[in-house]
Amino acid sequence: MKQINRCAMPERLVKKSQKLKILTVNTPFVVWFTGLSGSGKSTLGVKLTDELLSQEVPAYHLDGDSLRTGLNYDLGFSREDRRENVRRAGEVAKILSDSGTNVIASFISPYAEDRLKVRKLFKPKQFVEVYLNCPLEICQKRDVKGLYRAAKHGKIKEFTGISQPYEKPKHAEIVLDTNQMNPDQCLKKIFAYLNSNYRL
Ligand code: ADX
Repeated sequence: MKQINRCAMPERLVKKSQKLKILTVNTPFVVWFTGLSGSGKSTLGVKLTDELLSQEVPAYHLDGDSLRTGLNYDLGFSREDRRENVRRAGEVAKILSDSGTNVIASFISPYAEDRLKVRKLFKPKQFVEVYLNCPLEICQKRDVKGLYRAAKHGKIKEFTGISQPYEKPKHAEIVLDTNQMNPDQCLKKIFAYLNSNYRL
């Protein structure tokens, strides 16, 4: 594959941007939620973003369902399309991050290889992988969108956890058992991590 030349932000602009109050004093972080459909990625993504914004910390939520209606409307759920979906999401996260915005991303991102590629776009401590560990049976039971039911009856092909794999992260910075913790407890754990690693 062709090597992409990444254009760094000119030093002149970095200095100027540091004076802008809207930008974080830290290198922005990327909180990347990964987990099965129904594990709570979007719920937590929205809550975390709202809470950060209410504390006047610049943040933007990138969500799989939402990106797939625009930037990624041309992508489906084959192995190749998921790779491209996650790659594009990572590149958008990188652009936002370079602008000084903290990024919250909610993507199933089922393949370890794809998540690692996104991680490598950022500095080591910048990328915070949050694995929403929720058993498949619980996600199936919740089935908020009725997709598991449809997948079980063969109406949706290539469904994560049913007819396609989900590769659990082995080295996530944070693991949240979302079937045992409520969203507020999850947020508390995320904030504890962010507060000890970043000046919010
Ligand atoms: S990813 O695997 O490429 O990261 P992404 O997070 O963007 O997926 O989109 C997942 C969302 O698409 C799910 O929450 C669900 O609403 C919807 N969806 C539709 N078809 C599928 C499918 N075959 N597998 C998983 N999710 C699907």
